[in-house]
Amino acid sequence: GDVIVEPLIRTTISDDRGEEPRYVGYAASELCEKGYGIEDVLALLWNKKLPSREESEIIKRIVMISADHGPAVSGAFGAILGACAGIDMPQAVSAGMTMIGPRFGGAVTNAGKYFAHGVKEFPNDIPGFLTWMKQNVGPVPGIGHRVKSLKNPDKRVKYLVDYVQNQTTLHMPCLEYALEVEKVTTAKKDNLILNVDGTIGCILVDLDFPEQSLNGFFVLARTIGMIGHWIDQTSQQSRLIRLYDYLINYAVKDEREVPEKK
Ligand code: ACO
Ligand code: LMR
Repeated sequence: GDVIVEPLIRTTISDDRGEEPRYVGYAASELCEKGYGIEDVLALLWNKKLPSREESEIIKRIVMISADHGPAVSGAFGAILGACAGIDMPQAVSAGMTMIGPRFGGAVTNAGKYFAHGVKEFPNDIPGFLTWMKQNVGPVPGIGHRVKSLKNPDKRVKYLVDYVQNQTTLHMPCLEYALEVEKVTTAKKDNLILNVDGTIGCILVDLDFPEQSLNGFFVLARTIGMIGHWIDQTSQQSRLIRLYDYLINYAVKDEREVPEKK
């Protein structure tokens, strides 16, 4: 008789059982032929629907603008350390990728989540939202930057905000809310600006992407940069990195004799 086997996994996004992969039903080659781009493919695989033209133009810009931010930041620096230690590309890039977390690049999901919470629960009460965040969450994800500030604005954020507000017809309530929050936080401290993570998190909430997909945008974009840093370092045959003593504050005990073991 028939043997009934429980499936091991269930997928709702893609299928390779035909001649080519289909993403949520659409053949990959047909998407290429009909002029769709990588931004449409990611929307299919992450949100199971094709974005409108306006939406895909925004997604494309989010990926372009987050692709790299120089060698000094945690992710790129991790990948560069790996490259200089002679590590292969996937491992060096994953070393950089490991840095993506609550302080660096990985605040997109929680920024989207908590600003959306603010829109819903504290619509006309930014101080109330900030008090609630302080009591229940901690630093507001998507707010604050180590070097960017009101005096040294983040052009990426300004560009994205200007683009979605002035070059599209889309309604952006979560982004608008975060910009109101920024007014209050920057009045307290100059560098508590709406950062890239916060900006893209809110825009993506407004584009109706699932909450758990949001960090994926930074991960995807920054992979482009980290691969670039690995190629750059290996093609220059860069040497192993070892920190110079002057970069380290050795706050240690003076040299002393080891006591006899009791
Ligand atoms: N919400 C509330 N207060 C904050 C926030 C925040 N998001 N960020 C910093 N502060 C406050 C701190 O509480 C601290 O206050 P104090 O001086 O009264 O103690 C002060 O600002 C300085 O905080 P630091 O953590 O020392 O600031 P730093 O410049 O090192 O932090 C960072 C930068 C890590 C980005 C921080 O602002 C933060 O954690 N933000 C939230 C996470 C986030 O959005 N990360 C993504 C950054 S963008 C990117 O990585 C692409
Ligand atoms: C980035 O995009 O990597 C950052 O905004 C973080 C930084 O410190 O520049």
